Amino acid sequence: MVDDVTHGKRRSARWRRLPDETHDYSRSHLGRGEDYDEGFAALPLRSLMSTMEEAVIRELAGRTAARSVLDFACGTGRIAEVVVTALPAARLVGVDIAESMLSVARERVPSGEWIHADVSELHSLVAGESFDLVTAFRFFPNADPALRAAAVTAVADAVRPGGFVLLNNHRNFWSGSYLARRLPSGAPAPGALNRQVVGPFLERGFAVVARRSLGVTPQSDERAYGLPLSWATRMERLNARVLSSRHTIGTNTIWLLQKHGLSTRVA
Ligand SMILES: C[S@@+](CC[C@H](N)C(=O)[O-])C[C@H]1O[C@@H](n2cnc3c(N)ncnc32)[C@H](O)[C@@H]1O
Repeated sequence: MVDDVTHGKRRSARWRRLPDETHDYSRSHLGRGEDYDEGFAALPLRSLMSTMEEAVIRELAGRTAARSVLDFACGTGRIAEVVVTALPAARLVGVDIAESMLSVARERVPSGEWIHADVSELHSLVAGESFDLVTAFRFFPNADPALRAAAVTAVADAVRPGGFVLLNNHRNFWSGSYLARRLPSGAPAPGALNRQVVGPFLERGFAVVARRSLGVTPQSDERAYGLPLSWATRMERLNARVLSSRHTIGTNTIWLLQKHGLSTRVA
């Protein structure tokens, strides 16, 4: 009996435990490029998420009517390619620490300005210039705490007063998908709390203008848990159309934040 209780407590603690965040995320994509993009096309639910995410980015980036955009941690230009369709007249600058990722971005969006730099160099690179919109996808939930803190400061400073940040948490710790991955084995499924991602911006006076939460059926990148893939796909589409602005329980929540300031231009 005592053993059962002890065992129960241990399991409970394990599925609640946040991941070890001591790794150095800055090195994670060095040498990567086309293989990163292939992962989206090859895995059915990752591909579906990517398509739904693109629709949200087009909608929310379009609302900002931005004339200058910085895509921070731009990787292969996956997000930039969508942003330029929503804001074709905007100047687009992409920054990433991995040259191999940037070389894919250069081919993908030739009109962009692509800068090979670490986040610590962002201040000096964009000194005196502030952007209408900064996008940062698949970065904050992955980054270790020191890198996350440095990036919040750099990104927040790169936005003009009244300008916008568009970012996401694609690894919501309390989403059905991450719970489903942890529960059977108590395995540490990495994830991030929504407040770890968006909280530091709110503390700096940013306000939430809009948000969309995608990924409500428990799933990995390849398979849905407990549902045929076709049903999971239908439910995801329904959520994206009708419910996604009303909750934050999805695996992937996207926020449009606005920096306090004089100008409040938003379409
Ligand atoms: C998961 S990828 C996301 C790429 C792109 N935003 C997307 O959504 O497809 C994360 C990117 O962050 C970049 N990165 C990691 N640490 C960085 C740092 N210290 N400074 C700039 N970029 C960094 C990586 O090189 C990688 O390209």
